[in-house]
Amino acid sequence: MKKKLKLGVFGFGCVGQGLYHVLNETHGVKAEIKKIAVKNRDKQRMLPAAVFTYDHAEILNDPEIDVVVELIDDADAAFNIVKTALQHGKHVVTANKKMLAENLEEIYQLQQQYDRSVLYEGSVCGSIPIIRNLEEYYDNDLLNSIEGIFNGSTNFILTKVFEENKSYEEALKGAQALGFAETDPSLDVKGFDPKYKLTIALAHTFGLFVKPDQIINLGIDKISGVDLKYARENGYTIKLIARAVREGSHVFAFVAPQFVPAQHFLAPIRNEFNAVVVNGAFAENQIFVGKGAGSYPTGSAVLSDVSALTFDYRYEYKKRLQGDRHVFSNEATIDVIVSFAEKDALMPQQFDVFKGGYQGHGFQYMQGTISLAKLAQWGQRADLSVILAPGAKPVVALRDTALDRKVTTEQLSHLDSFSSSASIAGIAAIG
Ligand code: HSE
Repeated sequence: MKKKLKLGVFGFGCVGQGLYHVLNETHGVKAEIKKIAVKNRDKQRMLPAAVFTYDHAEILNDPEIDVVVELIDDADAAFNIVKTALQHGKHVVTANKKMLAENLEEIYQLQQQYDRSVLYEGSVCGSIPIIRNLEEYYDNDLLNSIEGIFNGSTNFILTKVFEENKSYEEALKGAQALGFAETDPSLDVKGFDPKYKLTIALAHTFGLFVKPDQIINLGIDKISGVDLKYARENGYTIKLIARAVREGSHVFAFVAPQFVPAQHFLAPIRNEFNAVVVNGAFAENQIFVGKGAGSYPTGSAVLSDVSALTFDYRYEYKKRLQGDRHVFSNEATIDVIVSFAEKDALMPQQFDVFKGGYQGHGFQYMQGTISLAKLAQWGQRADLSVILAPGAKPVVALRDTALDRKVTTEQLSHLDSFSSSASIAGIAAIG
């Protein structure tokens, strides 16, 4: 595609305005915005009224528009826009992670059916170019895992709470004021937003289309002052980690808060920065760090997709075509530390393996191994704060993959720099 692309943009919020600015300030991207569809007729806008339309059809039916850039909030409306745009022969760039996560397999098929491209680098970890790297750079490496900090708002909140002693509410307001948080911030703080991103990453890491409701997500909303104290006294911080790990042919994926030792490479990732750690059998650990939220960082990822369309780029979903048949599974166990105030809220025998506990003034801790199914259940309980133990990784709960497990676990353990010495000694130190 050699000509200058004409863009029809849906939405002119934080990311839409970011795209407008980065496009204006970048030389060399052969693209211009022809029309922007918005909802609110009363809002004051920085561009002339003639650029805006309130009628979707004005963009979708315009034969001059080559690319629809979808940047609205509503996932269902966004999916309709994407489908219609493809049916009308337009390429699509979108940053709508919920819409993508919920419909990725269909979007994959629609691209084949209409021979058009849907690009979405801005949907996963803002400015970090992870999708294209998974598609192109990691084409030939046998990937073992992808994990990291996939949500800017929660990392911002945790940083402010840990380092500046801000209250959770105050920190959340800060994330909202800076345009990092979702319109419904519970999507951030309850771990849905990083789960959507992980769902998308699964397709490009392991060739798996998984529905987001199959993936367990815990958030940071139940982390208590007691957890913060425990973390501080043991040299940890707490990060909300999205993780997908391959064990043999099984892939486990979930989002949960985790105690992270101060010396771990994820510990210094602060504020709205995200980090993605890709582990390949040959390349081993590689870490991508960058701003995961915000107008310009996300706008720059969207612009990069627009630019890629000028040379006819499309995702090939190469991991689906490589013949490695992976199976998504929640049949694994994981080490957790659970805190709670009510004396009998939890009993040691409710753990698969109980590793100890501590009772303080008005709170208790218990540490042990539980199934991922129990992680999901306990994560729903208002009276429990469940945080993964430092170094905790899913351990496959299937007998017939024992050999696979041995090999992969050995690979992972020598690559893993989480300390696993937290344990009861650490817990007993609180008092
Ligand atoms: N709410 C998201 C975040 C925005 O905080 O990471 C970027 O996807």
